[in-house]
Amino acid sequence: MEPILIDVPEELHTERLHLRLPRVGDGVAVAAAVVASRPELQPFMPWATDTYGDADGEMWCRRVIARYFLREQISYSIYERATGEFIGGLGPHRIDWKVRLCEIGYWIRTDRAGNGFMTEALNAVTAMLGTIGLRRIEVRCDERNLKSAAVARRCGFVHEGTLRANVLDAVGEPRSHMIFSHIVTEPV
Ligand SMILES: CC(C)(COP(=O)(O)OP(=O)(O)OC[C@H]1O[C@@H](n2cnc3c(N)ncnc32)[C@H](O)[C@@H]1OP(=O)(O)O)[C@@H](O)C(=O)NCCC(=O)NCCS
Repeated sequence: MEPILIDVPEELHTERLHLRLPRVGDGVAVAAAVVASRPELQPFMPWATDTYGDADGEMWCRRVIARYFLREQISYSIYERATGEFIGGLGPHRIDWKVRLCEIGYWIRTDRAGNGFMTEALNAVTAMLGTIGLRRIEVRCDERNLKSAAVARRCGFVHEGTLRANVLDAVGEPRSHMIFSHIVTEPV
């Protein structure tokens, strides 16, 4: 089937979270969460710059809405059900519908970290991806990013290896990426 014809859920519900596609107008909430989490995001997310603001948040929302319809990227915004607040995002990008693989990235607002929310969200998205025909789900993270690696391991992803000096960080220094994968036929 042509990827654009594949039906992909626009929202997912878990015990404590509501995951949904970004909407036009969400950019202010996204920017507030990024600004509140800058010290934790900056070492690993080059887009979380010192000048990140409302327009950046809004451009992000509009770009991922467009990519969703092309089935190039599926980015969910994460809302805490107890408060209704936006607390982060996750979802697959680098989707190869032919090989049936993708890579998932994620981030959480710092004041909501340490509650298992990302583990809950990643488990839900991973399970959904199996239902729309994807088979291999990757998480790639800097070898210093122990919290990200812990989320992947907690969700049953297997560390396949580490690519040495395969990326540059925000200041142009070489960094090594750990590669984790989950094959959807494997139990989580
Ligand atoms: C990576 C990141 C999303 C991890 O967030 P997190 O809140 O630590 O992840 P989880 O939601 O799985 O929470 C796990 C923590 O909650 C605790 N926890 C509490 N209740 C829990 C529950 N019900 N289930 C699982 N863990 C629970 C765990 O013990 C763990 O605590 P610890 O960090 O003290 O060991 C966050 O550090 C982040 O946004 N970093 C910056 C961006 C980034 O690096 N993204 C990844 C790029 S590849």
